[in-house]
Amino acid sequence: VESVLHQSHRSTALVTGAAGFIGSHLVDRLLARGQQVIGIDNLSRGSRRNLRNALAAPNFSFHEFNLNDLESYRRVISGARIDMVWHMAANSDIPAGVSDPQVDLRDTFFTTFNTLQIMREHKIKRLAFASTSAVYGVHQKVLTESTGPLFPISNYGAMKLASEAIVSAAVESFLECAWIFRLSNITGSRATHGVVYDLLNKLKSSAFELEVLGDGKQRKPYLHATELLDAMELIVERAAGPLNCFNIGPADPGVTVKYIAEVVCRHVSPRAAIRFTGGSKGWTGDVPRFEYSIEKLRALGWSPLLSSEQAIARGVDEIHSEMWSC
Ligand SMILES: NC(=O)c1ccc[n+]([C@@H]2O[C@H](COP(=O)([O-])OP(=O)(O)OC[C@H]3O[C@@H](n4cnc5c(N)ncnc54)[C@H](O)[C@@H]3O)[C@@H](O)[C@H]2O)c1
Repeated sequence: VESVLHQSHRSTALVTGAAGFIGSHLVDRLLARGQQVIGIDNLSRGSRRNLRNALAAPNFSFHEFNLNDLESYRRVISGARIDMVWHMAANSDIPAGVSDPQVDLRDTFFTTFNTLQIMREHKIKRLAFASTSAVYGVHQKVLTESTGPLFPISNYGAMKLASEAIVSAAVESFLECAWIFRLSNITGSRATHGVVYDLLNKLKSSAFELEVLGDGKQRKPYLHATELLDAMELIVERAAGPLNCFNIGPADPGVTVKYIAEVVCRHVSPRAAIRFTGGSKGWTGDVPRFEYSIEKLRALGWSPLLSSEQAIARGVDEIHSEMWSC
């Protein structure tokens, strides 16, 4: 990571989804590393507020447009010498993509397709791509990067898997290096979605009852956004193959939704009654349980310090103070 700091001093990064939860933290991190950063977002889910610090930085420029508008994409990129693209834009509302498949086709797949098209035209050869555990679908075993077959159960997962596939094909034809990050659930400040965000949001409007989707037994691993950034930076620094795919998550089997609901209630509204809607999953397309192997990441020399419990505790604290201050 130290040498990324030096190498990257004068380089220029393009971040798509820059105003979103992860994208905005990434922008701050790259700026802190001394990079020039170009951020793109259509603000469909992200906000300028997330970019408050970045917008004041002289080496940051922000462009609000839809990545599916190729003319605007070309206009913004023309003349810039971009060393690397961090493609973070996607639909992040999985149920929305289940009720309308166009959502993930457009915002999860075509944003990737168009980003590759632009990279090809402008001879940009390095891509970091935020993929997801949702590409795996349902498996009984601990998920490693070679687990298969990959049959996602949501349109979101399907369009991420299709995105991984075209990234792989681009490596064969024009990319020098691509990093595919298969993220577990991420939590922390600026979250625009996710279980912690949703539960806090519900308690904000009704302090005495907390409705929880499913039976609460869904169990997933959670990583704090700061550790995600550490992991992504380290992978880009140390994994130098043409196509690099890594699970990124905590080193534990995760926590249940019931556990998270209890933490949220204790933190915000101890008298709230928790009511489960029932059923084994939160929504159509939800993978109710999975466990990650991060052995490949460990072999690079890094593993997260925070457990899922600790990531959740921090996430609840951070999202709560943000939500209650506005
Ligand atoms: N947060 C998680 O737990 C998690 C887990 C797995 C994977 N991911 C992936 O990480 C990336 C970042 O996720 P996030 O949690 O920050 O979500 P987010 O919704 O906060 O950020 C995504 C950003 O992309 C923007 N965007 C979407 N479609 C666009 C379009 N057509 N044109 C321009 N901008 C567009 C949105 O406005 C938003 O600001 C996504 O690719 C997501 O799939 C996130």
